[in-house]
Amino acid sequence: MQNLWYKNAVIYCVDVDAFKDSDGDGIGDFRGLADHLDHIEALGATCIWLLPFYPSPNRDNGYDVSDYYNVDPRYGTLGDFAEFMQAAGDRGLRVIVDLVVNHTSIEHPWFQASRSDPSSRFRDWYVWRKDKPADAEEGVIFPGVQQSTWTFDRKRREYYNHRFYEHQADLNIANPAVREEIQRIMGFWLALGVSGFRIDAAPFILEDLKDDPHAYLAELQSFLSWRRAEAILLAEANIEMEEAGDYFGDGDRLHLIFNFPLNQRLFLGLARQEAEPVAALLKDLPAIPDIAQWATFLRNHDEIDLGRLSDGEREEVFSAFGPDKDMQLYERGLRRRLAPMLGGDERRIRMAFSLMLALPGTPVLWYGDEIGMGENLALPERHPVRTPMQWTPDGAGGFSAADPKAWVRAPVLSGPFAPAFVNAEAQKVEGDSLFSIVQRLVRARRAAREIGWAQAEVIDFGAPSVLGLRARWRDGEVVTLHNLGERPVTVDLAPVVEGRRCVNLLRQAVGEPQGAAGEWRLGPYGFEWLRLA
Ligand code: NOJ
Repeated sequence: MQNLWYKNAVIYCVDVDAFKDSDGDGIGDFRGLADHLDHIEALGATCIWLLPFYPSPNRDNGYDVSDYYNVDPRYGTLGDFAEFMQAAGDRGLRVIVDLVVNHTSIEHPWFQASRSDPSSRFRDWYVWRKDKPADAEEGVIFPGVQQSTWTFDRKRREYYNHRFYEHQADLNIANPAVREEIQRIMGFWLALGVSGFRIDAAPFILEDLKDDPHAYLAELQSFLSWRRAEAILLAEANIEMEEAGDYFGDGDRLHLIFNFPLNQRLFLGLARQEAEPVAALLKDLPAIPDIAQWATFLRNHDEIDLGRLSDGEREEVFSAFGPDKDMQLYERGLRRRLAPMLGGDERRIRMAFSLMLALPGTPVLWYGDEIGMGENLALPERHPVRTPMQWTPDGAGGFSAADPKAWVRAPVLSGPFAPAFVNAEAQKVEGDSLFSIVQRLVRARRAAREIGWAQAEVIDFGAPSVLGLRARWRDGEVVTLHNLGERPVTVDLAPVVEGRRCVNLLRQAVGEPQGAAGEWRLGPYGFEWLRLA
């Protein structure tokens, strides 16, 4: 069991487009990424998750695929991809890729055939209806931007279903030929060496299936295990906690699911400067099979989705972290990066990283957050958080706001988060930079394997701003303390330490609680990681 690599992986998410441009055309590419893997390795990440890089009209950041078996020419060639895989492997980095099969771009040749050629074998590859369903305006994912989930196609003279944008037609997963094709796509990328998939929009893939839809996940896992034993399925599934069992099965379905409910409670806790929202969720976290795992995160390439909070709670997070209308999106979320949300307060940003890494699950980091990048709110929808990686003080390595091809990548060029103040080059050599701290925290997380394996226990210190967590696995015990508040606080560790020796995992110092009563002082937004012997 203990060789399940993903239980203690540290995943770093990269948008190839925005990471590093090697040829000066204003668009990131695989060569640029392959040349900058040292950054990811130095951070201590063990796995890279690539956002979609397939040929695409790029109307949804690549989540509108027009060819599943290639690399978009803007990012290079399949040859460059293979070279990148080799370079990642040389550094001991695994790679997982996005599997976007709920829908294709309407420019995909399958859709083009399905709409225009009655004799095509792709005729039933999409979800068509003669009449517009009565609920066509319900369940839109991007309110304000998307009107409906059914659109009339002039060629076929029927309506097609699209859970997301109108240009993303839903595949008909109920069709066995489509499911066979999905396996072919997975097989192709596995053959090129990837270690698994992030499954885009997982719940919507299942919604076409009639009886026991979740059983399809077992079919996918079984396929994967025969092709490449170590490969994983990490699902984007913004589900209720009670549904987790259906998705994990008996350990025969998904390996990982992003913990969206936890992410929302985390931001509520940060906003209130109180541990309770997180603690309450952790106390109710359902037991999951040994091989299953949560994926924890602070930010990703989308908006922070606060849709599972009550209206009042969401307002609290909005007023703390995104009071302006243009920081909010789709009536439920915030289109902001971590650092500016936390007011650029480095103590608080560090604590947020530390807390995320201490939570039960496998941490997933969004590129650029490790150096505290800001957002560009002048960009539409979710693009503000997808600006070019800031490598050097004098700009964003080849990306320019003036390039019309790359306009949705327009870098952050002014203000406190501009490259002059926030860049990887400077942070790598400064011992107390955010990058260096995150690096140390990642190292601590990798040393504390208990966190990846244990069912987390919440320790109540009677201090509202403090989240105490204990992870016990085999002979090991790791205790983490986080002060979500801006005021210092002292907690009594004696009942936790019980006279044992304790090693401070962040400073590698052996310590004992100060004072006879075992008092431990946490500064404003302070945190500690302790291993108890
Ligand atoms: C979820 C992705 O994270 C998001 O970026 C995308 O727009 C939708 N799925 C549609 O693919």
